[in-house]
Amino acid sequence: MSRIVYLNGDYVAEEDAKISVFDRGFLFADGVYEVTSVIDHKILEWDGHCARLRRSLGELQMDSPATDAELLEIHRELVRRNDLEEGVIYLQVTRGAADRDFAFPEDATPTLVLFTQAKALVDTSAANAGLKVISVPDIRWGRRDIKTVQLLAPSLGKMAAKAQGCDDAWMVEDGFVTEGTSNNAYIVTQNGTLVTRQLSTALLHGITRASVLKMAAEAQIKIEERPFTIEEAKQAAEAFVTAASTFVAPVVEIDGQMLGDGTPGPISKRLREIYISESRKTAV
Ligand code: PDD
Repeated sequence: MSRIVYLNGDYVAEEDAKISVFDRGFLFADGVYEVTSVIDHKILEWDGHCARLRRSLGELQMDSPATDAELLEIHRELVRRNDLEEGVIYLQVTRGAADRDFAFPEDATPTLVLFTQAKALVDTSAANAGLKVISVPDIRWGRRDIKTVQLLAPSLGKMAAKAQGCDDAWMVEDGFVTEGTSNNAYIVTQNGTLVTRQLSTALLHGITRASVLKMAAEAQIKIEERPFTIEEAKQAAEAFVTAASTFVAPVVEIDGQMLGDGTPGPISKRLREIYISESRKTAV
């Protein structure tokens, strides 16, 4: 059975959802997106994703195609129509269709697309076995705080990891890790301090990151928001990544160096449990 997707005001079968070849998302990657997770038919971290979408749109002077309440209703309707118990909802807004020109068009109508992807989020091999990551140079543009659909560099990083039999890549700029290809990166030092890079234009301001740091502070874990190198990460007691699509996922190997005994570390496991149980409580 095909999915029902949302396109510019209509709920349609996926094979009937068509957009213009002049859409600036297609021609210029002139679009922003959000990925929001669903557990037990409920949407996690709605307020955070909605606020970040507003910020991304604002930074690119892009019109919003719908109000916050309308966007939430579309998410809920897609969960209902696709009977989505567990998985993610992808939302994309582009500046719309216009004759090809580098300058923004004056009167384009934004394109709004949402679709669901059913997938296991709670009981996953990434969580149970942990991820193997490699390091790659961060070749992305300088405004990674805006969640744009320019994802070719992360895609290349992921392919480089797969070619080496690994799961993901951590991107490195000026000697320091910025983030994972589609997640924020953390290490836990030998003395139990949680380290993750501070927010800036160099990385995406993860919604999961914000919640996990709050929960870690409440669990009395010492936190340092600062850059770290791959060398420091290789000496760490444990490491993990966070994203809406993985929650907290342990990292067990970095550039061929096993961390600890090569199994998910206790702090990563604990934060994953706390994150899942707490975010279920605020799901809508
Ligand atoms: N990616 N950093 C990058 C580069 C990301 O693409 C993502 C999320 C994150 C984590 O953000 P959040 O916790 O808000 O999901 C960090 C999504 C899941 C994706 O592109 O599929």
